[in-house]
Amino acid sequence: MRSSIQNLIPYDPGLTQEQLEEKLGKTILKLSANESLWGPSPLVTDILQKSVTKLNFYPDGIAQELKKALSSSWNLPAENFCLGNGTDELIFMLATAFLNPGEEVVIPTPTFSSYASSVTIVGGKVTLVPQKDLTFNLKEIARFIHPGVKIVFLCNPNNPTGTFFSHAELELFLKKVPPKTLVVLDEAYGHYATDDRFPRSRELLKKYSNLIILRTFSKVYSLASLRVGYAVAAPQVIKELEKIRQPYNVNTIAQMAATAALQDEKYLQKVIKETVREREWLTQELRQKGLTVLPSQSNFLLVRINNASLVSEKLLQEGILVRNTTSFGLPDWLRITLAPHQYMEQFVQYLEKILLTV
Ligand SMILES: Cc1ncc(COP(=O)(O)O)c(C=O)c1O
Repeated sequence: MRSSIQNLIPYDPGLTQEQLEEKLGKTILKLSANESLWGPSPLVTDILQKSVTKLNFYPDGIAQELKKALSSSWNLPAENFCLGNGTDELIFMLATAFLNPGEEVVIPTPTFSSYASSVTIVGGKVTLVPQKDLTFNLKEIARFIHPGVKIVFLCNPNNPTGTFFSHAELELFLKKVPPKTLVVLDEAYGHYATDDRFPRSRELLKKYSNLIILRTFSKVYSLASLRVGYAVAAPQVIKELEKIRQPYNVNTIAQMAATAALQDEKYLQKVIKETVREREWLTQELRQKGLTVLPSQSNFLLVRINNASLVSEKLLQEGILVRNTTSFGLPDWLRITLAPHQYMEQFVQYLEKILLTV
């Protein structure tokens, strides 16, 4: 065994929805993993029929069609993209490609756990920078950056808080970071950000060759089960990632579905609009009940609730699964995925009932 993994605990994805339903004997409304309950575009479902005729062949190892679609959507050449089996794989690839054992990586917290685990696996040194107000203070984070820091991971909007930092803050940060320190900007939830100040990260790519943007098809495109994510960065960064990419890491069905999803801008805008509407509605509903809700630019809300663990257990008894955020160091909070209105109403109705009893 590699000594770096000695104290690592395997990721626990919990029971599947089907297993939970069987265990509890009822249908489960899953609001725990920031998936999209809107489902994929009809263009994706159509293309899936075609993809099954290709099961006997290896996928296109360089995903030409998908890269072409990404190129046109980002207005950047294909050499600026690297595809991953989910963004999860790209995070691991970044650590593998760029870190030598003992090299330092800065991670503001609370945040997505994959950054620290990937860095730990390859023997890197993780420097966590806890953020007091549950929003990233880039000025403060910049104080931890020095030429020895190889990578800094920034999640924007952040998981699990849903909060964001602005274009101006990011640009100021990038100016301070040494050019050899990679800034990984995970925008898994970027599509949901509607605030005008949200970074126009694409514009910054040209100016900062140490900037790497991560995006995923798991959230707004509703393709979490197919596992497709991508990195956008300078060709010299992508070249290093390509050296360690597994030859057929993104399967044919995933490539075809993601390519089709990119063609349906109208459906994408509909999902964003409806998610944002639910975000505003649920934030207000919960605040009216006296709960603290962080301002979210994402497809989930982080809500402070007394006896959060007990509330999440009781919600589950009613058939609603939300995310207990204890593993993020936030035991008094719950993270709730936004979903179409009927589900949000169902959630509020049960929550109201439960809050009267705890
Ligand atoms: C911030 C963030 N980045 C990346 C991921 C992983 O995405 P993928 O499904 O593309 O691996 C998640 C999943 O929840 C996430 O929250």
